[in-house]
Amino acid sequence: MEKKAIFDGIIKEIKTFLNQPHSGDSAMRFISESIHQKLSDYDWVGFYLVSKTEERMLELGSYVGEHTDHLKIPFGKGICGQTAESQETFLIDDVTKEDNYIACSIHVKSEIVVPMFKDKRMIGQIDIDSSTINAFNVSDEIFLKEICSLISPSIH
Ligand code: SME
Repeated sequence: MEKKAIFDGIIKEIKTFLNQPHSGDSAMRFISESIHQKLSDYDWVGFYLVSKTEERMLELGSYVGEHTDHLKIPFGKGICGQTAESQETFLIDDVTKEDNYIACSIHVKSEIVVPMFKDKRMIGQIDIDSSTINAFNVSDEIFLKEICSLISPSIH
């Protein structure tokens, strides 16, 4: 199946899920599992949320993929922390070329992090790792931005 058709199917499924009563946690879990299962290059899928208790800190929400020790990431640190700082998508074709990078697994080759906004305030991000080099492009960014805008009303 074409990637675009898979994206469209996932978005439709997410909209159906979000139309039923749900919590933010269950929505993050549903989305992480759905994306991970249907997109073969999406090897690690997770949400980091802006901490409500600590200044300039990200906290890991729901994720699917290899275990990570990085439950908290300060703004500015790694790809996720830099995305939190810039509030812009960070797309990495080859993680070995990045100086400011936090390795969660030796298998990761490329990564995309898309910030998530609610009422124009950044509330977190979605982070995808792939064990394939150059796994992501602008179509992934558009897809993930749509997911972020669909889920953000459910995150408190
Ligand atoms: N690679 C990320 C850390 C998060 S893990 O990939 C789960 C980074 O550099 O911020």
